[in-house]
Amino acid sequence: MKTIQVKLGNRSYPIHVESGLLEQLPSLLSEQNHGQKWIIISQYRLMEFFGFNLLDNLKQAGFSIDFITVPAGEAAKSINEFNRIISQMIEMNCDRSTTILALGGGVVGDVAGFVASSFMRGIDYYQIPSTLLAMVDSSIGGKTGINIAEGKNLVGAIYQPKSVFVDPSLLDSLPTEEVISGLGEIIKYGVIYDCDFFAEISQGLDDLESFPFEKAISRSCEIKADIVSKDEREGDLRRLLNFGHTIGHALEAHFGYGKLRHGEAVSYGMICAGWISNQLGYFSNDDYTNLKNVIQKLPLPPLNKFDANTLLPFIKNDKKTIAGELHFVVLDGLGSASTSNKVSGDLILTSLKEIQ
Ligand SMILES: NC(=O)c1ccc[n+]([C@@H]2O[C@H](COP(=O)([O-])OP(=O)(O)OC[C@H]3O[C@@H](n4cnc5c(N)ncnc54)[C@H](O)[C@@H]3O)[C@@H](O)[C@H]2O)c1
Ligand SMILES: [Zn+2]
Repeated sequence: MKTIQVKLGNRSYPIHVESGLLEQLPSLLSEQNHGQKWIIISQYRLMEFFGFNLLDNLKQAGFSIDFITVPAGEAAKSINEFNRIISQMIEMNCDRSTTILALGGGVVGDVAGFVASSFMRGIDYYQIPSTLLAMVDSSIGGKTGINIAEGKNLVGAIYQPKSVFVDPSLLDSLPTEEVISGLGEIIKYGVIYDCDFFAEISQGLDDLESFPFEKAISRSCEIKADIVSKDEREGDLRRLLNFGHTIGHALEAHFGYGKLRHGEAVSYGMICAGWISNQLGYFSNDDYTNLKNVIQKLPLPPLNKFDANTLLPFIKNDKKTIAGELHFVVLDGLGSASTSNKVSGDLILTSLKEIQ
């Protein structure tokens, strides 16, 4: 089992990565079981895939455990679902000692983490990510939250889990498009932080069937853990994780959540951000061509024709805009990124021709 530490003083925690890890959870969690109530928060289909099996195994190992499900999709990250989970937990006699297991993708992880952060002023929780995106990104770093009518993730907390358990074998049932979406984020880690990793990903993408998922997940977790350990609350370093996201978020909002997946939108956003970096003279022609070629190895859904101007309000709305200034993540080379406040709205609009 590979174990990676997120180092945050007395809130430090391990990320364990191994295929088949879910089967080992009863023994890995046994020391944390003091007879308290445990709650799996998941989605019904995921309970059928592997949640009920986990529930039975934990019951057999003496855990007092129940489960709560949320709907599929962004609808689960709503104030109504948040209320419903809290009410169910009260009905189930949960208290301050209750421990949550968040079993699912980023949607489940975000809402379950937010419940953990606020129920009885904060209870313990563990992340058990089941999508590639959640394994390499959303389960690590403690960002939790829900959506409101005014926008995504506008209510939330930074609240770290006790551990993250990554079992890459859960990916066996994940639809291909969700895998592709997660690969977009994996490419991002190579691009912003580690050029050797970028080269390995590039090679791996030549034959998706034999892509080294476990290795790539571990390396991505190491990079995210390293960044979060140095900058938990999103200063300049953690902001680099937003590479490709300013335009990615705008594409997601424009085309509709659920139509274009997050990692797919970010992949398109990375092409534009790479082009912008090149135009500003930070990023060479060869590196930009290389970046674009690697991203285009992903079978991304083609984008319907769109008017670039319609994206600008979404870009200006991006919450990474601080005091009216856009902190845009640019590349200085493959494996090296920084932020720039020199990126104008016009340049962003022109960059969109690279993906149309
Ligand atoms: N907290 C963070 O730092 C952070 C970072 C990035 C994204 N996010 C959030 O994550 C969410 C997106 O997460 P996501 O991409 O994992 O989507 P998701 O959680 O909606 O999962 C995608 C779909 O895959 C299904 N699924 C999950 N695991 C499966 C499995 N093993 N087999 C079969 N089906 C499975 C889900 O039921 C869902 O229908 C967004 O809400 C985004 O805001 C959070
Ligand atoms: Zn992302």
